[in-house]
Amino acid sequence: MKNVGILSVGHCVPKRKLTNLQLEKMVETSDDWITTRTGIKERRIAGQDETTSLLATKAGREALKNAGMDAEEVELIIVATTSPDSNFPSVACRVQKAVGARKAAAFDVSAACSGYLYAITTAKQYLLSGMFKNALIIAADKFSNLVDWNDRSTCVLFGDGAGACVLGWKRDGHGILADYIHAEGKHAGMMYVDHDEPVPLDQTHAKMRKPHIIMHGQELFKCAVTSMADGVAIVAKEAGVKIDEIDCVVPHQANDRIISAVAKKAGIPKEKFFVNIQKYGNTSAAAISIALYEAVQEGRIKNGSNVVLVTFGAGLVSAANLVRW
Ligand code: ACO
Repeated sequence: MKNVGILSVGHCVPKRKLTNLQLEKMVETSDDWITTRTGIKERRIAGQDETTSLLATKAGREALKNAGMDAEEVELIIVATTSPDSNFPSVACRVQKAVGARKAAAFDVSAACSGYLYAITTAKQYLLSGMFKNALIIAADKFSNLVDWNDRSTCVLFGDGAGACVLGWKRDGHGILADYIHAEGKHAGMMYVDHDEPVPLDQTHAKMRKPHIIMHGQELFKCAVTSMADGVAIVAKEAGVKIDEIDCVVPHQANDRIISAVAKKAGIPKEKFFVNIQKYGNTSAAAISIALYEAVQEGRIKNGSNVVLVTFGAGLVSAANLVRW
């Protein structure tokens, strides 16, 4: 018996850093406010030429290299993103071309910060059905393009980046033991990208506002804590793993205070949560993928570790997986 599992991970973050001190010069904020309210110290901002698909391609290439896999062998590519280079072609198709995975099916998944886990869970079903033998899963977002850089309530929170993994087969008892994906569209108004709707057939170039993020932070905060604590409990139960047998939790990196509250509600010591928000801020779909990459690199996740991946995002969408490494 075999099980679908994560064979390798990869990541890519832009080199350019934007620190809280630099933000102090852009909007009315302070390092102290950002640090105490969110835990963020700096974030990475992609350059004009560093598109979402470029970040995705670099992360994907590293995951393939770490799996010892040739791009020609890839059968499915799913990219989780809500900030694609353009409406079409998909980022997945751009990655397919760039890495040379010419035999792979490719499409994007739109589930905001839950996109990486939605994509993993979707790909797992294709592998279980026998349709594909492997999948390259990538999460990539460039929210610096969606942020209103005059809005201090949102611009301090987000950063750009990408992460990836290769899904394949693991021996029984290892791999992705439980999955949970959920949506509550009734809360769509808590966070969305606002933009002016163009007038049909209008050929004049009316001045339209750029798409920008609207967010009701306090309401989201409460939903985030409840949905992520629920997600942990649901996948632990489904996998038959006791809460105290969880070795590492890799949560969505939106706010360190949210992570502390989830730890308390889930009954898991905060030390078991992997946190890197101080370096990258909220990179949306990419956040868990980058955190998982670093948790593996730093030896926080070892062979046999019970790892919970758990997230929430605009939609609202939430998701979790329990993975035995
Ligand atoms: N610097 C200084 N002051 C600020 C800033 C800032 N950057 N932003 C807001 N403030 C002010 C507000 O204006 C307010 O002032 P007032 O009391 O005079 O009105 C005060 O700080 C408190 O503001 P709150 O919004 O109440 O602050 P809060 O403690 O709730 O923290 C935050 C705000 C960090 C956004 C928090 O609510 C949060 O993290 N919420 C969750 C957000 C989230 O997870 N979003 C991602 C969703 S995932 C996805 O799909 C991408």
